[in-house]
Amino acid sequence: MTYKVGLLGLGTVGTGTAKILTAPEGRHPLMRELEIAKVGVRSLEKPRAIQFPPSVLTTDFDEIVTHPEIDIVAELIGGVEPARSWILKAIAHGKHIVTANKAVMSRHGDEIFAAANEKGVYVMLEAAVGGGIPVISPLKQALGVNRIKRVTGIVNGTTNYILTRMKNEGADFEAVLADAQKLGYAEADPTADVEGLDAADKIAILASIAFGGRIKLEEVFCEGIRHVTAADIAYAEKLDFVIKLLAIAQEDVTEDPSTDTPQQLALKVHPTLLPKSHPLASVDGVFNAILVEGEPLGQVMFFGPGAGEGATASAVVADMMNIAAILKTETEPIPHPLLSSTHQHYCAIAPIEESVSRFYVRVLSQDSPGVIGSLGTCFGDRGVSLESVVQTGMRDNLAEIVLVTHHVREGNFREALDSISKLDDVKEIPSVIRVW
Ligand code: HSE
Repeated sequence: MTYKVGLLGLGTVGTGTAKILTAPEGRHPLMRELEIAKVGVRSLEKPRAIQFPPSVLTTDFDEIVTHPEIDIVAELIGGVEPARSWILKAIAHGKHIVTANKAVMSRHGDEIFAAANEKGVYVMLEAAVGGGIPVISPLKQALGVNRIKRVTGIVNGTTNYILTRMKNEGADFEAVLADAQKLGYAEADPTADVEGLDAADKIAILASIAFGGRIKLEEVFCEGIRHVTAADIAYAEKLDFVIKLLAIAQEDVTEDPSTDTPQQLALKVHPTLLPKSHPLASVDGVFNAILVEGEPLGQVMFFGPGAGEGATASAVVADMMNIAAILKTETEPIPHPLLSSTHQHYCAIAPIEESVSRFYVRVLSQDSPGVIGSLGTCFGDRGVSLESVVQTGMRDNLAEIVLVTHHVREGNFREALDSISKLDDVKEIPSVIRVW
């Protein structure tokens, strides 16, 4: 069975999507059943990173959303209009929709989902929040049994990159923003990112799914990062905090226990001093992360690339694959291609000796001349390169020596360790721990 896909837009995400769809080898077998039928572009003349037969490319988006053979339309043009109109027209023609468009879904999700429900088609939007990070599908499925208490996200890579550089360089906002624009990490017009509007779109979408209700975007409190100074960041550091732009959706504490759903949600985007011990505090640079807290699960965190060609396309194509799986089970009821296990072969597993790792080793030895040299020789003879060697002091009248290796083949490391354990001066090797 083949499921035909029409792409609206061949920009960064569209190109990434086409690259995955045209190279299914090594991916899920269902990928071979997804076929690009049409790709809508603004100009047929523009040079492309990926070539299509002339019959596939078109500037006529109407042809795609009304095409009798297309099953899934991926809206990858972004922005509110004309994206909204194309999505609605595709739905009216019975197409399933995949979109990466947080702006249209946070503003017109109610209208779009209502139309889709009436027509009996799916609208999938995994790529709209957190780029390649799977968070919408886990919230709907694997986490669906939980009562969600709070969703807290670093969902804007641009601001996280700026705040991270401000922290690392002690620099002010404007200087880092200007450099980020030069390097292509921030848009020429950075308003949506630095004012927190992009994060507000995303938390509105997440809140709607996590708390099972519609959200009016204008009700999300939104404060950006323009006013955060280098001095704030320095003080935060002294107090053991980092400053992050957080998007937060949480149950209001005044929740009425007699109802299943919270009466009120707190929905906000603002810079926040976050204790360094908080799971989101170490999410730096352009990365995104979303921490979901629920009952009974507790905390679960999703981390990864929040934007970019391959990452966002990964989420787009995963949605297509999920739709294909549903369509397939309508015609071939079992086994469900995503939920069943049909593997026939065993994966080859490398023996541990062949694996490569860094190691931390603690050695107790006599405090005699030449011990460190002997340790170095034992490692060196097996091609194990040392990153650091420190004699940390005495323990039980023995010298305590801590060594960290560079990446080594584990078999070589073990041979070296074996010869070290036989050295007359070495009394004990109390710790051997792999280092990431
Ligand atoms: N502008 C967004 C960001 C990426 O900086 O994270 C797309 O959602």
